[in-house]
Amino acid sequence: MDSCARALVSRRRLQMGYPFNQDTDFADYYRWLVDTGLADTTLINVGDPYKKDWDMLNTDEFERSCIDFFAKHFGFGEDRWGVISNGGTDGNMHGLYFGRKSLQARVPDKPCVLYVSEEAHYSMRKLGDILNMPTCTVAALEDGRMDVDDFARKLDPSKPALVGIAIGGTFKAAIDDQDAIDSVLKSSGVPAYYRHLDVALFGGYLPFLDDEKARGIVSAKLRGFDSIAVSGHKFLSLNEPAGVFVCRRRVLEDLHSIPVPYLNGVIPTISCSRSGFDALKLYWRICSTGEEGFKKEAAHTLKMAELLHGKLLAAGVEAWRNPYSTTVFFRRPKDSLIHKYCMACEGCRYLGELSHVVVMQYFDEELIDMLVGDLSGR
Ligand SMILES: Cc1ncc(COP(=O)(O)O)c(C=O)c1O
Repeated sequence: MDSCARALVSRRRLQMGYPFNQDTDFADYYRWLVDTGLADTTLINVGDPYKKDWDMLNTDEFERSCIDFFAKHFGFGEDRWGVISNGGTDGNMHGLYFGRKSLQARVPDKPCVLYVSEEAHYSMRKLGDILNMPTCTVAALEDGRMDVDDFARKLDPSKPALVGIAIGGTFKAAIDDQDAIDSVLKSSGVPAYYRHLDVALFGGYLPFLDDEKARGIVSAKLRGFDSIAVSGHKFLSLNEPAGVFVCRRRVLEDLHSIPVPYLNGVIPTISCSRSGFDALKLYWRICSTGEEGFKKEAAHTLKMAELLHGKLLAAGVEAWRNPYSTTVFFRRPKDSLIHKYCMACEGCRYLGELSHVVVMQYFDEELIDMLVGDLSGR
């Protein structure tokens, strides 16, 4: 195991194709678990973290603090509820399931249709399948945003609409235009609609940018979306899968969850048990980093992404980067570089074969120069 650990650690700075921070800084947290005895304790959070009168060992209070922290940054007021999810897909699962239940409660005689762009994370369409919802794939523009004209053409005005909005598509990391989507929904005459935002990576840094427009993209108060899901192991830098899901509390009233007497009530969450340690770890991260720390990390990461993009262009490498994005994509390089940097690759009908890297907190100029040197063949 030791040699495996050494090999893993030696490769960690070259995992550029996927949005994981490789400077997670949890040594003190693990020491604290050992010192307090929690390292030898099992902690499971069950169902609603806002429940009362619960005897089983739990970390609900820390889970609530984490949710409150993000709910505030996502522009939710008192009308908020949430849960620490098992990851981005689990957050999207809650968003789409709650969305379907909410639309069903409002328009019982007409099943909803799920709309997602072809550039949205594949989990959205997979969840449409799992939840047995008719799913309409909307075309994307060349830059990766949802093609809102195609959405308008495909929207069925006779049925409730559940829209999965990508704030950062998986490959080109483009931000869908919520205002344009809203105006299509409002003028279409659909009987009801629900908007879920997938902010897996972007939700970790947009709220901390010194840019009102960027913060407004993830503000429920300004944009009016119903739920939002962020990954915990992307920008938020947890070192294993987790996430945060937040929705309007009134959505819970539409769930009509199945009562579970032996668990003392109604369980709105999809899974019963969640890690109680995720809540401690995320709470640790929030307290040890603080708002100022998140702001610095967000500014640094965007600066490094801008630098990488600029240096690639200056070196004659055709490369693209969307607004507020830390993802830089370019034509697929030779296989040896794809393997060296663990790049993600995808075919695009507009631009051909592409690869991308996602700039994260651990990027510095030295790393960028090495990558640019390799990609430009110098
Ligand atoms: C935009 C987006 N949404 C959702 C997910 C799924 O997250 P997870 O892997 O935590 O399930 C990802 C994963 O990369 C993603 O990029």
